Amino acid sequence: MKGVVFTEFLEMVEAQFSSEMVEELLGSCELASGGAYTSIGTYDHRELVALVGALSEKTGAPGGALVHEFGRHLLRRFTVGFPGFFAAARDTFAFLAQVEGYVHAEVRKLYPDAELPTFECRVDGHDRMDMVYRSTRGFADLAHGLIVATAEHYGEAITVEVEDLSGGARTHVRFELRKRGAAE
Ligand code: HEM
Repeated sequence: MKGVVFTEFLEMVEAQFSSEMVEELLGSCELASGGAYTSIGTYDHRELVALVGALSEKTGAPGGALVHEFGRHLLRRFTVGFPGFFAAARDTFAFLAQVEGYVHAEVRKLYPDAELPTFECRVDGHDRMDMVYRSTRGFADLAHGLIVATAEHYGEAITVEVEDLSGGARTHVRFELRKRGAAE
């Protein structure tokens, strides 16, 4: 997993908790990298899982909720770092439909070793969209946070229902997006 994901995670922890919390997390986890992340490096994604687990233990917040919150943070950072991707889409559905074939495709050009999920998207009329997430890393909660924050970015009221198709492993998950106020 790219270092930018780790540096953003630790920045979120520092902003929401404290720099002491960052030090505590790094100190309490057995990290092969030693915890000295650079944004261009590549690290084992299980280090992120360990850091989330430690934060969950120290704060009492469930790990899934922390990963979801991190997804929202990351999307807001992406809107600042990569405004062109957002300008290229007129709304939430258009943007999300482009993640697989355009956004992540560009990411892969930049970082050939990126470990990216796959998304199958189906837009159904004007107000419904399904996204099916697949990744061996099981970061569906991250995807959920990214999706919710995308709707916030475009100022749209969208509900997201989550169905885990992998028995709780979060590796294969369907997201059903509905524009709120739309007829059933
Ligand atoms: C401008 C927008 C975006 C950029 C620049 C971006 C970029 C990236 C990068 C750099 C990674 C890390 C790859 C690695 O560590 O090897 C990543 C992973 C990921 N991205 Fe995106 N992404 C964007 C939008 C989204 C959106 C909207 C979603 C969800 C619908 C999404 C879902 C994910 C997930 C779930 C992962 C974690 C890896 C996994 O689950 O296997 N991304 N993305």
